[in-house]
Amino acid sequence: MIAVEGGRPLRGELTVQGAKNSVLPILAASIMCRDVSVIENCPRLEDVDASVAILRHLGCRVRWLEEDLEVDSSCLSRWDIPDDLMRRMRSSVIFLGAILARCAQAELSFPGGCELGPRPIDLHLTALRTLGVRIDECGGQIRCRCRNLRGTEIVLSLPSVGATENAMLAACGAGGVTVISNAAREPEIVDLQSFLRKMGASVRGAGTSTVIVEGGRSLHGCRHRCIGDRIAAATYLSAVAATGGEITLKGVDYRYLSTVTTALAQAGCRINSSEQHIHLRSNGQLRGICPIRTSPYPGFPTDAQAVVMAALLRSRGTTVFVENIFQNRYRHVAELQRMGANIRLEGRVAVLCGVPRLCGATVRCTDLRGGAALVLAGLQADGITQVEEIHHIKRGYSDLTGDLARLGARIQEIGE
Ligand code: UD1
Repeated sequence: MIAVEGGRPLRGELTVQGAKNSVLPILAASIMCRDVSVIENCPRLEDVDASVAILRHLGCRVRWLEEDLEVDSSCLSRWDIPDDLMRRMRSSVIFLGAILARCAQAELSFPGGCELGPRPIDLHLTALRTLGVRIDECGGQIRCRCRNLRGTEIVLSLPSVGATENAMLAACGAGGVTVISNAAREPEIVDLQSFLRKMGASVRGAGTSTVIVEGGRSLHGCRHRCIGDRIAAATYLSAVAATGGEITLKGVDYRYLSTVTTALAQAGCRINSSEQHIHLRSNGQLRGICPIRTSPYPGFPTDAQAVVMAALLRSRGTTVFVENIFQNRYRHVAELQRMGANIRLEGRVAVLCGVPRLCGATVRCTDLRGGAALVLAGLQADGITQVEEIHHIKRGYSDLTGDLARLGARIQEIGE
């Protein structure tokens, strides 16, 4: 449980952790060579632990070297992922493309639904079928075989991050050229491309809607430093926006956060950024802003919706949120209402009217970012807020409590 006493302004400097959503596909990609790779700036998270468990199950040797993770995939000996490991982390499906590129067969179970609603993988499977993979789906199991993966044109019906990554990984193992159209353009996909190139793969176009892979190259180990986590950065910026104070963030590219910083600036924060830092100052009295509509990058990230909502809970005026990516991404709202928040929900729309005060309460994390939003609400509430089920938060933040405490919050993690 996290206990937080609200009402303290936050001040200080933080270096943002490595990006969870970069590290997970990169760890999957590390099995595509028979060699040692070192992933620098790897955050210590539950989801990274889950990836490590999968890597070890597959036969890889993995060890931490302080902030870096070393993966030796020369000894990979399996191509299956058991159900308990698949369930531990929904994005474990990202291993599918990598296992197929390396082993030409794979067996795993469906990731199923998750806290955010159904998590279909139809686009992943369609992309792999287009590359020549034979896929049998039966009783929640997925069995994949391919004699020869062949390069081809893959058109994604929507720009799914995971499907783009799976297609890129499998295409590295396919003979010939693969063109992925309507690809997702997230910065983490650019980071995956950088890693693949360092391994010796020919991949270009990441960051645009067309990614081109010339497959069949032999890959080797490499050393790669992950980009900073833009969603963790958005969380700390939102925290300081809400409580008042100032923060300097390092280790994250400000250009990846422009929709979030624009929203916070509109709410009344003073923000300036350079290549090296993002600086935010807030007097803690925000105002409502234009509607926030989540959409694929470079639009407003769905992952930042909950924390920015938390920042605006005590703002003057009204803000409308429209969640366009996941069906079930407002579960934190009911918990925020327990603290006195005024939010009305209708389908994918949430209408937030700022209230003068929030009151501390016992609340429960419903998912990773929703959990962070509850902590942010606690930072501005009267009295003490107890946030339960914090294992959700640990999936994606290496030390949310410690970071906020270093910025001056009265916050503490107790048991669990
Ligand atoms: C990734 C991120 C997650 C983020 C999300 C959207 C990682 C590890 N996770 O998740 O933090 O919230 O992008 O930015 O990088 N869809 C289908 N069929 C598919 C795949 C997806 O219908 O086969 C739908 C999903 O239900 C969702 C939308 O596409 O509505 C976007 O999902 P996607 O971009 O695939 O998200 P993830 O890769 O799962």
